Amino acid sequence: MKIVMALLPLVFAYSSVALSADAGTLPPPEKYCQWEMSNYSITAPLCGLKGDAARGKLIVSDGHKGNCLACHQLPIDGVEAYGTIAPPLAGISNRMNEAQLRLRVVDSRNLNPMSIMPGFYRDPKLINRPAKAYEGRTFLQAQEVEDVIAYLVTLK
Ligand code: HEC
Repeated sequence: MKIVMALLPLVFAYSSVALSADAGTLPPPEKYCQWEMSNYSITAPLCGLKGDAARGKLIVSDGHKGNCLACHQLPIDGVEAYGTIAPPLAGISNRMNEAQLRLRVVDSRNLNPMSIMPGFYRDPKLINRPAKAYEGRTFLQAQEVEDVIAYLVTLK
């Protein structure tokens, strides 16, 4: 029960971001690129894109983007509070390679069906988005996911 209560604000955070969206201000959803999992990894970069670690670092701390800090501790200075309900990500690239990291960020439910971690690049057909403006959209765009992965790879 305690953990459920602790997670409620997060659930609201995600849905209120979706609900506060103004349908008129969003560009049309980008094309979804199908990915393939093998050996609990996704080897090919999403849509063949190349990530940028500096942009990824901004996305993981952005409450409207990755919001990874809500659950994970990361080696980023000046953060008031980190979430502690998920493993710390400092040194993560010593434990996982790029392809393994990609599956975690894209859809960790392929590893743990009960995972509370959002699938940042699940097939939009499988995501129930309460606001019309967000229908057909993944939580992060393919480029943003690749940026986050490029950043995680630098965490040694
Ligand atoms: C709502 C909480 C939550 C958010 C937000 C979240 N995660 Fe997670 N994450 C988890 C949990 C819990 C786990 C532990 C494995 C599991 O239960 O799936 C995890 C596991 C991971 C792992 C594997 C770590 C290990 O040591 O096994 C990585 C990598 C990861 N998350 C990256 C991210 C990144 C990058 C973001 C932001 C783009 C993010 N997570 C956002 C909850 C979260």
